[in-house]
Amino acid sequence: MHCAADSDLFRKFGRRFRRSLLCRKFGFTLVVMAKIFLNDGWQYSPSFSAEKTMMDYAGDFETVRIPHAVAVTPFNSFPTEIYQKNSIYRRTFRTESGWKEGRVLLTVEGAAHCSEVFVNGRSVALHECGYTAFTVDLTDFLADEGGENVLAIRVDSRESLNQPPFGFVVDYMTYGGIYRDVYLDIRGKIRIDDVFVMAADGSVSTEVTVVASGAAPDGLCVRQKVVPADGAPMTASSGTVLAEFAVGVDASSFSGGKSLVKSRSECAGAEKWDVDSPFLYTLVTELVGAFGEILDESRVRFGFRSIRFDETGFYLNGRKIRLRGLNRHQSWPYIGYAAPKSMQREDADILKYELGLNEVRTSHYPQGRHFVDRCDEIGLLVFTEIPGWQHIGDEKWKDVAVENVRDMVLQYRNHPSVFIWGVRINESQDDDEFYARTNAVAHSLDSTRPTGGVRFLKHSSLLEDVYTFNDFSFHGPNDGCLPKKRVTDTRKGFMVTEYNGHMFPTKTFDCERLRTEHALRHAKVLDALAARDDCAGGSGWCAFDYNTHKDFGSGDYICYHGVMDMFRNPKMAAFVYASQQDASVSGDILDVTSSMDIGEHPGGARGDVFIITNADSVRMYVNDIFIKEYTAADSPFRNLPHGPILIDDYIGHRIVDEDGVPERNFAAVKSMLFALQKYGVNRLPLKVIMKGLLLWARGVTNPEHLRKLYGKYIGNWGGESVVYRFDSYRGGKIVRSVTREPMRSVSVKAFCRRTALREEETYDMAQVCLRAVDQNGNVQPFCQEAVTLRTEGAVELVGPSAVSLKGGMAGTYVRTAGGKGRGSLVVKDWTGTESRVEFDVE
Ligand code: GAL
Repeated sequence: MHCAADSDLFRKFGRRFRRSLLCRKFGFTLVVMAKIFLNDGWQYSPSFSAEKTMMDYAGDFETVRIPHAVAVTPFNSFPTEIYQKNSIYRRTFRTESGWKEGRVLLTVEGAAHCSEVFVNGRSVALHECGYTAFTVDLTDFLADEGGENVLAIRVDSRESLNQPPFGFVVDYMTYGGIYRDVYLDIRGKIRIDDVFVMAADGSVSTEVTVVASGAAPDGLCVRQKVVPADGAPMTASSGTVLAEFAVGVDASSFSGGKSLVKSRSECAGAEKWDVDSPFLYTLVTELVGAFGEILDESRVRFGFRSIRFDETGFYLNGRKIRLRGLNRHQSWPYIGYAAPKSMQREDADILKYELGLNEVRTSHYPQGRHFVDRCDEIGLLVFTEIPGWQHIGDEKWKDVAVENVRDMVLQYRNHPSVFIWGVRINESQDDDEFYARTNAVAHSLDSTRPTGGVRFLKHSSLLEDVYTFNDFSFHGPNDGCLPKKRVTDTRKGFMVTEYNGHMFPTKTFDCERLRTEHALRHAKVLDALAARDDCAGGSGWCAFDYNTHKDFGSGDYICYHGVMDMFRNPKMAAFVYASQQDASVSGDILDVTSSMDIGEHPGGARGDVFIITNADSVRMYVNDIFIKEYTAADSPFRNLPHGPILIDDYIGHRIVDEDGVPERNFAAVKSMLFALQKYGVNRLPLKVIMKGLLLWARGVTNPEHLRKLYGKYIGNWGGESVVYRFDSYRGGKIVRSVTREPMRSVSVKAFCRRTALREEETYDMAQVCLRAVDQNGNVQPFCQEAVTLRTEGAVELVGPSAVSLKGGMAGTYVRTAGGKGRGSLVVKDWTGTESRVEFDVE
């Protein structure tokens, strides 16, 4: 059925094309453009051979849809060899009427890692990058009108390739396959090859590259207009044309078949693209012939915004913004890189709305168009960079890296969210000759953005505009980050591009002490960064756990460095980020770092417990008795708008009211109890012991008295547990409530961010999070039971049909199967209880 959809397009296109040929009587060919997605109907084989590129090859292939992963990978503990292949994808199509009058361009937006394109058995192009798109002009290799073609792409995903990021070790899996969209563009012989929009402060400058196969005609004109973008969440009043302008193009301006046409126009009333209000516009560019006929058209979405780094920080539209971001790998369990549009967009939404970020670094390679498109739409700043990990290869390898810079900048320079180009290999050594080249390419193609280059080296050679530095100096008791002057003497801008990560790997199923420490470490660095006026902010390592090579990770091929797990379930640290954001963006956040179960802690001493919230205040109750109201001002993280708040009172006034402790001794007794809860009996600091002895000597309290009070109010080993409740308030109303008490019942909740699925350019897919929660909705971190999964109707399961919860959480994927209608995911827990997630497939 997918091929049929293609043929419809082909037929429709063919008719329009024939009509347009009538224009020939005017002495030109008017081509109606068409974009034909080729994501369906591919035949796949994991082993390439030249004969498989031929039309008459009749061997076995698997039929696949793109995005495609060459291997469905297990959750963990698998070697990377399973996705290292020299594969072939092939499909056929007919040369439709009139196509050869124009140009037929094939674009592959992403194939990991080295692609060789064959048309009818002939090798026509090689692209040596798994993370940038490439376009090949197929026209001259196609069969005559009406004839069948076989398009084949050899995709080499072996890590022995001599191209970035390969050559030494790499801390992430690199997967394999054609994993981003593929399409044909049917265009005229004379066409718009590229449009670059530079827009800030109410004016727009454009550079349009027009290419002509053959002699360029006289009387051409480039006509442009700026209009609100279609369908974007933030556009100015629709229907408004903000500006219209045109430039004549002389045939003599073509050199080597190309002409660069520049124009500039005022755009009074343009709304700015900003993180809080990401207004988007479209620049419509028409190439108009001597008779007024439209020969080609391009539509580019862009935003009006200015960016600047200096020694005092980062400025967006002249306003200082402290960057608060995380690094993102574009991978998921089972499917590797092969996720369609909706999942890429969902990741951007998670970063902005669930983690409250204003920035993401696409470590360590350019990520897909759909992800960056969504970042444009929601106002999430993007630091993108060339592929690579610490290693710099030989001259040929460096040439490829320089080409990667060119492709990255050309492909992403119209995206307002992209605010800096990473033009060094992540964490590589200085190499001035090489990096002079990468900087020069980026600067020559884009004068509107600075370059950066991520390094862990202090005082390293700075050819870039911003010193972008991975600061792993924080290890717990020390400062959260280094002062700029200890890293570089430059007066240019400075940004921290990684912190934490391997300094404190943390699993969802780690003990509470570690999970709390992980969250607090992120808070500590965020707090330190917020205090530094010479630093633009930072991106922590990292958003999501990820599969990695044997040389890294926890021995199971996973780096547990995320503030979310691989299925995008939050760890405690996720709430630290989310709570920095206003509730209007990330919702009302309330989490408490402890389950309050004393048995989880050595000696029953719970240690420090924090409230994580973006609320105005949080009221704490024990067994429904009010204890204390906390606000952000109570947080020890002074530089954060909503730092985690230390709970320093479990008693309130109760020891006076209920136990007869005299008011005058109230504070002293309470502080002894708090010290016991924090340190436990055996680790009490000497100072506290001395204080206790003094109180004893004065007859205020004694060990037995303290033991009883402790048992009643804090940790009752041998007594009955208590119920803790936390209500968060905003604008005087309760907005969230968290109750901590021992688990009485547990059930598995399947949670899906999107249940309306749609087949557009290809299949759709949904990520489903599975969480074991108690009667109060608290995730049960030590529930590791198995659940089984099956689908019904219009969706099919991706990945295993039985999974175990990890840290009380897991996930799975469903994808559309080509049909429309209802589909269900049925989740059966270990007791046999079933729950369902219902999907509508349009
Ligand atoms: C950095 C590196 C990242 C990741 C991280 C783990 O050195 O750039 O890719 O490996 O360490 O903390």
